Amino acid sequence: MLEWRRIVCPIDFSEPSRDAMRVAADLAKRLGAELVLLHAYQLPGVATPEAVIYRGRSPLDRLIKAVVGLLGEWKSEALGLGAPEVTTHAASGVAYAEIVRFAEEQACDLIVMGTHGRTAVHRMLVGSTAERVVRHAPCPVLTVRQAPAARGEPTPRAPG
Ligand SMILES: Nc1ncnc2c1ncn2[C@@H]1O[C@H](COP(=O)(O)OP(=O)(O)O)[C@@H](O)[C@H]1O
Ligand SMILES: [Mg+2]
Repeated sequence: MLEWRRIVCPIDFSEPSRDAMRVAADLAKRLGAELVLLHAYQLPGVATPEAVIYRGRSPLDRLIKAVVGLLGEWKSEALGLGAPEVTTHAASGVAYAEIVRFAEEQACDLIVMGTHGRTAVHRMLVGSTAERVVRHAPCPVLTVRQAPAARGEPTPRAPG
């Protein structure tokens, strides 16, 4: 029996991920679950076969500061929506791998995420992060698709 104690909502700060966060906050409220807002960022650097050479400390510090600031703002919004306990986590690495790893290591009961994100190629059914998380997740994944109007598309009509 699943307990639904910890929900993780991975966010890339896009509008689709904001829609997912709203669903996750509502579920957390109803279930009395902890909500974790997780962002994965990629280090700016140059990959070589041997190592990754980073472009100095300060752009990285600025990036992390910006991420932490945004996570704080999104946390406030989730609390405002009634989620009883909201925590945030920033991880460096490839998004899908960090999301799956976090869900495993932190024993998350549910992942709530958008079907699309910042790259927003909507002719794809789901984005690459979403697809890989669905394939590899250790727990159920709830995907949230944005309303057609929000995607700038006409509303689909029933045939006939
Ligand atoms: N860097 C990231 N950190 C955390 N979550 C992410 C990240 N990138 C994407 N996501 C999650 O995955 C969802 C789908 O994004 P993605 O599959 O990358 O679509 P797209 O190809 O449109 O960017 C987002 O709404 C968000 O929930
Ligand atoms: Mg993306």
